[in-house]
Amino acid sequence: MPIVVKADGLAAGKGVMVCSTLDEAHDAVTRIMEERVFGEAGARVVIEECLTGEEASFLAFTDGKTVLPMASSQDHKPIFDNDQGPNTGGMGAYSPAPVVTEAVHRKIMERIMFPAVRGMAAEGRPYKGVLYAGLMIKDGEPKVLEFNARFGDPEAQPLVVRMASDLIPILEAVIAERLHQIDIQWRPEPAVCVVMASGGYPGPYEKGKLISGLDEAANVPGVVVFHAATALKNGKVVTDGGRVINVTGIGKDVREAIAVAYQGVKKIYWEGVHYRTDIGKKALDRLS
Ligand code: GLY
Repeated sequence: MPIVVKADGLAAGKGVMVCSTLDEAHDAVTRIMEERVFGEAGARVVIEECLTGEEASFLAFTDGKTVLPMASSQDHKPIFDNDQGPNTGGMGAYSPAPVVTEAVHRKIMERIMFPAVRGMAAEGRPYKGVLYAGLMIKDGEPKVLEFNARFGDPEAQPLVVRMASDLIPILEAVIAERLHQIDIQWRPEPAVCVVMASGGYPGPYEKGKLISGLDEAANVPGVVVFHAATALKNGKVVTDGGRVINVTGIGKDVREAIAVAYQGVKKIYWEGVHYRTDIGKKALDRLS
C-alpha cells in the first residue's frame, strides 16, 4: 500500500482510485466491478503500483515506423486548486512542461515511445495516429501510467496554439507513412489553457446555462477560445456538458501566458461556472 485500482475501460479520465489501505482497495473493486460506477469500463480492473512524482503528457505522431514527438505538456487533473478534490478529464494544461528536460525527453523516446510503436508493429498491429503516453516523472526517471490513442484534452489546446507548422500535412504524412519527411516547427513561447467547467462537475451538473463574454475573451491579444461542450439554443451559446470552454493564452513566458489566459477567462461567465485559479503554477514553481 498505497495501491491503485483502475477501471480497465474508458472512463473519461476518471476511472482511477488511489487506495491507501487494503479496505479502500476492496471498496474500490466493489464500486468499480459490482456497483459499476464507471459502467462497462469496470468489467475488468487493473491493479497497479502507486507511482509518485510529477505527471506529464507526452504526445507523438506516428505512422507505425517513425515517431515524431510533439512539444511536452502537463495537465491538471483534480477539480480544485492545489490538486485537491476528485480527478476530472483535465482542468487545464500548459506546454512546454519544464519537468520534461532534454534528458528526460531522450529517455521517454528511447525507453517508451520507440519500443511501444515497434512493439505494436511486431505484434502485427501497427499503430498510426497520435500516441499519448501519460507519464509519472520522479528524479528524472519517466514511468508510464497509461497510453491513449488520441490527443490529450486539454493538452491539445496549448499544443496546437504553439504549433507553427500546419497540422494537415502532418496528418497526411501519418496516413501515407512518410512521417520521416516531416519536421514540426514550434513557437518557443509557452501556452496555458484553463478549462471552464459546469458547477458540480465531475459530479452531476446542469446544462443549458447561457454563456456570456465569449467575443470579449477572444479579443484579448494572445487568447484562443476553444469550445468543448457548448450548444446553440435560439441563436445563443449555452453550456452542454461538464468541461465547457477552454481558454488558451500564449505569452513570452509562463507568467505572461497564465496572465493572458486568465484575462480571457475573466471575460466569460455563466451561472455556476467553475475553474481552477492555479493553472501553470507548477511550471512557474519549477522555473523559479
Ligand atoms: N487530459 C487527459 C486526457 O486527455 O486523457
